[in-house]
Amino acid sequence: MDTQSLLEEIALEARGLLGGGRVADYIPELARVDPDRFGMALCRPDGEQCSAGDAEVPFSIQSISKVFTLTLALQIAGDKLWQRIGREPSGSAFNSLVQLEQEQGIPRNPFINAGALVVTDVIGSRLRDARGKLLEFMRGLCGNDGINFDEAVAQSEQSTGHRNAALAHFLRSFGNLENAPETVLDAYFHQCALAMSCIDVARAGLFLANGGVLPSTGERVIPAPMTKRINALMQVCGTYDSAGDFAYRVGLPAKSGVGGGILAVLPGHFSLCVWSPELDASGNSLAGTRALELFTMRTGLSVF
Ligand code: DON
Repeated sequence: MDTQSLLEEIALEARGLLGGGRVADYIPELARVDPDRFGMALCRPDGEQCSAGDAEVPFSIQSISKVFTLTLALQIAGDKLWQRIGREPSGSAFNSLVQLEQEQGIPRNPFINAGALVVTDVIGSRLRDARGKLLEFMRGLCGNDGINFDEAVAQSEQSTGHRNAALAHFLRSFGNLENAPETVLDAYFHQCALAMSCIDVARAGLFLANGGVLPSTGERVIPAPMTKRINALMQVCGTYDSAGDFAYRVGLPAKSGVGGGILAVLPGHFSLCVWSPELDASGNSLAGTRALELFTMRTGLSVF
């Protein structure tokens, strides 16, 4: 079966799970999203692109943004970044405060909120207009100048994100935040509020399947060894504290977001983005995870 037909078949099947999960509502603006959406898009380094369902509808990428800010921070700081952040799965909720206290202000990994705040801080220390630079970076990666921050989502999280504010102040108290917590939080809430479609996200993540090079322009985004490392981190920490179950079922490096999107990558082969807003108990898209599982089972393509 060709990939296009396979995506359509999987979309139909995964849609059967709609109604079984819950849309994230701790960010009030996200609760307004239509729960019945389902989209899927796949891109290959040779330029092939296939999609099914609502693949062109923009959604809030939320924590998927952490892959791209990590890429920028590694460009800026290289391996020095790891003096401030760990590289181990957290085994606890992405917004947990307890572990940060126990580990003296060094977040377990760059994909939990505390780690992502440090990453955003690193970028803010180096780049003037970090928000603008991130947007430019993302537009370049996906080749779509029309993508933007969803201000309503950013403001919604700004006014309710007390736990992230606590994490930022906590990091600062340990000396692991160089900029004012308010500045870092503003940048962080905006990166999470980027609105992109499955096609945009799959295109943006394609360098991770192509040794760090953006296939559309030939531009090197990041050295090949760094690409391997980002993919490794996605594998072990990209899907909250159910990364083990996700690896067992799907077998691809991936990063999810509470907007219901998941970016998954098979190095050398493809990047794949799926979006369905209803989440499972651990905060990953319910139908999205199932769709990725069906894809790797039916194609036999996974890292394992
Ligand atoms: O900070 C938050 O809670 C959201 N903006 C993003 C959470 C998310 O997608 C999962 N994080 N790892």
